[in-house]
Amino acid sequence: MEEPDIIGLEIDILLETLKRRYSYDFSSYARASLDRRIRHFAEKNGYSRISEIIPQLIWDPSLLKKVVYGISVPVTEFFRNPRVFKIIREKVFPVLETYPHIKIWNAGCATGQEVYSMAIMLKEEGLYDKTQIYATDFNDEALEIAREGIYSIESVRNQIKNYQQAGGKETLSDYYLARYNRIIFDNELKKNIVFANHNLISDSPFGEMHLILCRNVLIYFNQDLQCNVLDLFMRSLIHGGFLCLGSHESIRFSAVERFLSPIEKQSKVFKKVARIARERSETDVDE
Ligand SMILES: C[S@@+](CC[C@H](N)C(=O)[O-])C[C@H]1O[C@@H](n2cnc3c(N)ncnc32)[C@H](O)[C@@H]1O
Repeated sequence: MEEPDIIGLEIDILLETLKRRYSYDFSSYARASLDRRIRHFAEKNGYSRISEIIPQLIWDPSLLKKVVYGISVPVTEFFRNPRVFKIIREKVFPVLETYPHIKIWNAGCATGQEVYSMAIMLKEEGLYDKTQIYATDFNDEALEIAREGIYSIESVRNQIKNYQQAGGKETLSDYYLARYNRIIFDNELKKNIVFANHNLISDSPFGEMHLILCRNVLIYFNQDLQCNVLDLFMRSLIHGGFLCLGSHESIRFSAVERFLSPIEKQSKVFKKVARIARERSETDVDE
């Protein structure tokens, strides 16, 4: 008789628990990497079996945050992929500038470094005061860190180069206070940011967005779920609005491809347009 896949069974039951008890549905996530993260979470937290997590998770809601944080990869950095920020600064901001108010949605903001990077750039271009930013994630523990805006000085130091490569105009330390080995971002930078729990699988889209930044999130989803989320973004964007995805993410397989025109070669920044008539690829330059 074939050996049953016991760990696979434990993981299935854990995922079913997350779904039925807390409405967190991971069934459409790319399974191999999700399995790896669950095994790693169990090991790191001293569980000798994945199934040991389950009864605790059923009866103790406070464990949920920790599990979601552990298995949802809230890895991020300031001005991650600086070239993308440079493109947004140089090509997207001049268009956004023409609107009386700007609405930006940073979906899957993790611990907040991406949204503070965006806020700094908006300040430097004189757009911050007329902008409302929605920074969302389904990971409450990551959102708490984002809301506080406190980070280790070490992590910020390592990313100063990103800020410069992104076209930063001041010095990064102008935007935070350093205390011992931590830094805290200026409240001025936080005042137009709303942090909120939002699940891309089950919650409704935010309306009338001018720019949606959702990088390195779709990569964890299977193709059907990626299509659903891209459709959600299309409903959220105004006509002429922009969508920015991560460098390993694609729109090529999805029905929304006809309505998203890449703004620069090799970049994953797209403009929402009326249906694109001719065949084009993600690497074509918009005219
Ligand atoms: C790798 S981080 C990306 C952070 C940031 N966007 C960046 O590129 O640096 C992925 C984030 O997506 C979030 N996420 C995963 N599934 C989600 C969902 N269904 N709804 C909302 N956020 C989700 C995770 O909690 C995690 O914080």
